[in-house]
Amino acid sequence: MNIAEEIRCLCREKNAIIMAHYYQRPEIQDIADFVGDSLALAQVAAKTDADIIVMCGVHFMAETAKILCPDKKVLIPAPEAGCSLADSCKAADLAAWKAAHPDHMVVSYVNTSAAVKALTDVVVTSSNALKIVKQLPEDKPILFGPDQNLGGYINRMTGRKMELWNGGCHVHARFSEEALLALKEQYPNAKVLAHPECKQSILQHADIIGSTQALLNYAKAHPEHKSFLVVTESGILHEMQKACPEVEFIAVPAVMDDMTICQCNECEYMRMCALENLYNCLRDEIGEIIVDEAIAKDAIRPIQRMLEMS
Ligand code: 13P
Ligand code: SF4
Repeated sequence: MNIAEEIRCLCREKNAIIMAHYYQRPEIQDIADFVGDSLALAQVAAKTDADIIVMCGVHFMAETAKILCPDKKVLIPAPEAGCSLADSCKAADLAAWKAAHPDHMVVSYVNTSAAVKALTDVVVTSSNALKIVKQLPEDKPILFGPDQNLGGYINRMTGRKMELWNGGCHVHARFSEEALLALKEQYPNAKVLAHPECKQSILQHADIIGSTQALLNYAKAHPEHKSFLVVTESGILHEMQKACPEVEFIAVPAVMDDMTICQCNECEYMRMCALENLYNCLRDEIGEIIVDEAIAKDAIRPIQRMLEMS
């Protein structure tokens, strides 16, 4: 058997499910039982009857699955796969921000640690952030973190004046507006698909702004568009190209250097998971996620609130 067949065999033996985010390497997406955005990964984790969940993604995704499924074994093939956005907000700093704004409610992006979620009123993902914030009482002031770009986008869309944490994702922050404009000239009919973690200077040129799933859904639902400029981590292009083989998807680069060579903007944390560490993780059941019980007890409420509101 090759390594992919051995991994599938281990899944059957152990009643394990492999879940993968759209930013994972193509071969990981292809071997997974389920591929989705942050919201869908949480929704599927909440409902699975597998005994083992293997989360091919970054640490906060596996942690969210463990919080939702405390009785299951949750494994991550690359336990060192963190997230610059989650790291931009430490629980102690959020606690101090909260203490300085005692009348505010706290809305946190899912890209946060369990300890930050435990201090949160409602968690959101890029799929449901707009929908959830619109449901919150208009007279209630909000602290939103840690993604300043997503928060700014929601403020502009809703007219709310949420206080924003000064955090961000280094991958989405580095997209080049200059390169995007050059590509728009080169492909004048292409629609621009952008993730709300991008800066406003990028979002202002977007035709569609949404989560990875929303961008994929748009491309699938609009076969009349024959080309798209994609401004998010380039892993999503794998599923886009599979779903719409006739369509041209162009990954917008992070730099303007030499546009003739591949400049795909990749998240190095997402790329840490490979077939070899996935196989070892499943075979030896290593990389288990443990969440402190007291933190998990407080963190589950805002996640469940999100699932109810989305
Ligand atoms: P979504 O999957 O919710 O679009 O989030 C993107 C992301 O950066 C995950 O790390
Ligand atoms: Fe975190 Fe950005 Fe990587 Fe997503 S792409 S996991 S937000 S560092």
